[in-house]
Amino acid sequence: MISFKNLIHIDRSAETPIYLQLHNAIINMIKSGVIKSGAKLPGTRSLSLQIGLHRKTVIAAYDELMGQGWISTIPAKGTFVSDKLPEVKPRGQGVGKGLKIEAGFSFEERKYLHRPYAQLPSMLTIDEGIPDVRIAPIVEILRHYRSIVSRSYNAKYLSYGSFFGDDSLREVLANYLQETRGITCSKENILITRGSQMGMYLASQLIHQKGGFSIVGETNYIAASLTLTDAGASLLRVRVDENGLNTNDIQALCEKHKIKSVYVTSHHHHPTTVTLSPERRLHLIELAHQYGFAILEDDYDYDFHYQRAPLLPLASADEGNHVIYIGAVCKIIAPAIRVGYMVGPTDFIAAAAHLRRTIDRQGDTILERALAQMIEQGDLQRHSRKALKLYHERRVHFHQLLTDHLSEFISFSVPEGGMAFWVTLKKDMNWEAIAKTCLENQMVIPDWKNYDSHNSGHNGIRLGFASLNFEEQTKAILILKSAMKKESQN
Ligand SMILES: Cc1ncc(COP(=O)(O)O)c(C=O)c1O
Repeated sequence: MISFKNLIHIDRSAETPIYLQLHNAIINMIKSGVIKSGAKLPGTRSLSLQIGLHRKTVIAAYDELMGQGWISTIPAKGTFVSDKLPEVKPRGQGVGKGLKIEAGFSFEERKYLHRPYAQLPSMLTIDEGIPDVRIAPIVEILRHYRSIVSRSYNAKYLSYGSFFGDDSLREVLANYLQETRGITCSKENILITRGSQMGMYLASQLIHQKGGFSIVGETNYIAASLTLTDAGASLLRVRVDENGLNTNDIQALCEKHKIKSVYVTSHHHHPTTVTLSPERRLHLIELAHQYGFAILEDDYDYDFHYQRAPLLPLASADEGNHVIYIGAVCKIIAPAIRVGYMVGPTDFIAAAAHLRRTIDRQGDTILERALAQMIEQGDLQRHSRKALKLYHERRVHFHQLLTDHLSEFISFSVPEGGMAFWVTLKKDMNWEAIAKTCLENQMVIPDWKNYDSHNSGHNGIRLGFASLNFEEQTKAILILKSAMKKESQN
């Protein structure tokens, strides 16, 4: 006998009326084969007792099912599932949920894109350098968001808008980027994206649709390598030292191959956190002009510098329109606030906007307008200063912990900015075993494979410090210490 009590779940807090939830649940049971066509259903009184609902609710659900032809009543006999319905066999885990596991059609699976999904577990986590979302200025965002939607004349912003992004944000950003980064541009040079990743995707697709070479660092941000490769680029790697990408290596490659793009995280190289030196910046721009390649400048953490004023981005020094500048508020505010920007020559930006339209009609116009107001009224800048101060203190604390507890196992240098330390294991130990022990102690650390995707054997990972308060940092480092100790004794 079917246990309706176990199979029908009613959510009293949901907006869907209860009788409709019951109606939907019975349809799902019929569709998934749990109740076969022709089967007799319990009477309304019996069902209402089984599942703890008012009888009138069950009658309303049955009426609705009857109206739609799913069931019918035979006087003096009872209520039956309609005979004309096809009998569908129950399928594994999908029973009752309509879930299908395998597609009934063919498609290309790009296995190389698969990476373990870094869940946000409730466990203590050393991430690879993300902001502390607990300090995100959500109240300010909501205030601006509400002020926009509460005015009836703003209703138009709920409709379809420009696929270049909200005009007011593009205008405000043009000034903001000039004031904070020395980038001279107008709104036509700016496309609003859903974060840096979308900028990288669009640029890679436009530049590498017909393939061609792209130069990246020997250590590189893995998502950028995958995005470029997926777009059609063949990657060539150059050395990275304490001054960033080696531009002599880039020049040597340009002499051998037609290079279409160079990907650079100039402010703090991802993953090793070093800053591209002024000389190499100029050299890279000269090379771009000489060899005609695009520089994809991913400035993911420009706002976080602790020692000195940051070097201005390459985009501020480029007069030849070879730099595509990519940034976002996801690292200043929170990764889930998906608003970013791509700055470049107007023809390129227009092409990117049209391409963007094919995967995402537009961004969240209201959120974009709210951010424009936050920048105009100084809320974003205030938050950025507050976060900078906090992360500076956390960097000092984390540095002390690394020195006090882990120096026998690791080497590192103190990052000038950003939200992570680049840490390499000194001895012949391996991160995999350390990560496993950490997990046994309820802590997650970044996946070492992300940093050594082409087996260069550098044995380093990023340890983010910004999202952990002092207490959490101490706890995390002590767990890491015991894991490293265990691994060093093996
Ligand atoms: C170097 C680098 N670029 C881009 C991104 C993606 O940022 P967004 O969240 O803005 O897409 C990240 C995220 O961690 C990053 O580390």
